[in-house]
Amino acid sequence: MNNVFISNSPKNTREIASQLASTLNGGEVIAFYGDLGQGKTCFVTGLAESLGFSGEVSSPTFAIINEYLGGRLDLYHFDMYRVTDWNDLYSTGYFEYMESGGVLAVEWSENIETALPDDAIRVTIRRVDETTREITINRGESV
Ligand SMILES: Nc1ncnc2c1ncn2[C@@H]1O[C@H](COP(=O)(O)OP(=O)(O)OP(=O)(O)O)[C@@H](O)[C@H]1O
Ligand SMILES: [Mg+2]
Repeated sequence: MNNVFISNSPKNTREIASQLASTLNGGEVIAFYGDLGQGKTCFVTGLAESLGFSGEVSSPTFAIINEYLGGRLDLYHFDMYRVTDWNDLYSTGYFEYMESGGVLAVEWSENIETALPDDAIRVTIRRVDETTREITINRGESV
């Protein structure tokens, strides 16, 4: 299933994210595609809010992973921008998190393509203009 949304603001992107969040059961990997500043972190903020996490969401650029716990489902937010090989990936704990029952949101998933599950939910964000984004959500074969 492929769904294409047009977002006209960061708030709109968070609302689209919350629609996706309402379909999550735990254990999903949400793989983000799209260049710098497209709105990946904005989308993850919407996921976290909608799952009921009440803290701050920020880009895990240096930490590589941020944990958003205590909502309906736990959400693990990865930034794979600087993850370039399997050793790096193992040391993030990615594979353990996949078994945790929480939801994984992975920015720069281009860098770990071969480590994504077949049923990953792929979210591609494309900048149309300053405030407009085209967001494609591909739920893969299994849904
Ligand atoms: N419709 C929109 N949806 C999302 N963000 C938007 C939109 N319009 C403008 N923006 C702006 O685009 C920027 C998106 O930043 P964000 O940190 O979410 O990008 P990113 O894809 O995570 O980048 P990076 O690769 O650096 O992590 C923000 O400054 C936000 O205000
Ligand atoms: Mg980001």
